[in-house]
Amino acid sequence: MPHFAKPAEGSWTEHYPQLSTGPVSYEDSISPEYYERERKAIFAKTWLNVGRVEQLPRVGSYFTREIEAAHTSIVVVRAADQQVRAFYNMCRHRGNKLVWQDYPGEESNGTCRQFTCKYHGWRYSLEGDLTFVQQESEFFDLDKDDYGLAPVRVETWEGFIFVNLDASGTTSLREYLGELGQGLEGYPFGEMTQVYKYRADVGSNWKLFIDAFAEFYHAPILHAHQAVSEESQKLAGYGYEALAYAIDGPHGMVSSWGGMSPPKDLNMVKPIERVLHSGLFGPWERTIDIDLPPAVNPARSKAWGIDSFLFFPNFMLLVWSPNWYLTYHYWPTSYNTHIFEGTLYFVPPRNARERLQQELAAVTFKEYALQDGNTLEATQSMLESRAVTQFPLNDQEILLRLLHTTGREYVAQYEDVVATTS
Ligand code: FES
Ligand SMILES: [Fe+2]
Repeated sequence: MPHFAKPAEGSWTEHYPQLSTGPVSYEDSISPEYYERERKAIFAKTWLNVGRVEQLPRVGSYFTREIEAAHTSIVVVRAADQQVRAFYNMCRHRGNKLVWQDYPGEESNGTCRQFTCKYHGWRYSLEGDLTFVQQESEFFDLDKDDYGLAPVRVETWEGFIFVNLDASGTTSLREYLGELGQGLEGYPFGEMTQVYKYRADVGSNWKLFIDAFAEFYHAPILHAHQAVSEESQKLAGYGYEALAYAIDGPHGMVSSWGGMSPPKDLNMVKPIERVLHSGLFGPWERTIDIDLPPAVNPARSKAWGIDSFLFFPNFMLLVWSPNWYLTYHYWPTSYNTHIFEGTLYFVPPRNARERLQQELAAVTFKEYALQDGNTLEATQSMLESRAVTQFPLNDQEILLRLLHTTGREYVAQYEDVVATTS
């Protein structure tokens, strides 16, 4: 059961004995061999968010995703029956990657009536059926029914499209997302279709960037020059206390007060924020009214600013009090590199001023994210030196404990099953 209130006594972390309070090893972030184990135990086994339904507006809309952690590429498409389907992006003739534009390693999207392989022209319907074989009579007993595209499990939750590369898995997406996911249902994600997206190659293990976004301990220091001094002091000098943390199975969240939307004193913010009424926390004026579902601002605090949900393994969903949301994805490309994606979603602007408010929030976010990203390679390189191997984490870093503990549990459980079945 998630906890939604500050425990009467002790720290948050002590209420989750499975997380312990001892120092933590970061061997899981610096070992090529461990990364190979994570690939099999985590990225080939769990539900991975690959996009939103708005990316597939009509029959034949598709996008591809390169999932390097699983050494594969998939294509996600809206089929003729309006259902979202996913397939391995691979021709059944001789294995050519089926959907790509100029460069096979680059993701692509568009709309089509069918998929045609660039190599020998085999064609597949939007449902994945093989419909045409060039010079079919030259093959030997070829039954086209046997050569449809290899399907990938795909389910949607609140408009988020997830795939699961484990064909034998039985846990539904909704069940996997648990009480935290269910507690978010009803939030109007589908109304927030104005999208601003950043993507970056980062020279660190994927978990290190999640660490950087899953605690506020660094905020008054790393972002010192961004925040006004009064906010910094509240965070550091008086001791930061979250409104709530919740942990449910592999997933967790932190609910935080804060933000300057609008600030009590306009002198607290930069001139452009004063003019546009916007900043990191987004436009100060809300353009829609939202009845918050139970998992959002669970403490129902008036000072609420932002909730950060961490859905294992690599998807974060941030709900901001001025009625917009943000997603983070961390796609490993090796044990010490990953692709980071940060995507902001707003209700479409009704006029130029609202558009500028959103643009200001998006560039302010980028500034913070660059600061967050700035320490990662420095941390990765020193962790790899193994000069020190155990690290103390404080109570604000509880979601980091959760992430690393959960990862190790997945690897151990997977290897137990493999050992007992082989
Ligand atoms: S590999 Fe696709 S048609 Fe030959
Ligand atoms: Fe940060």
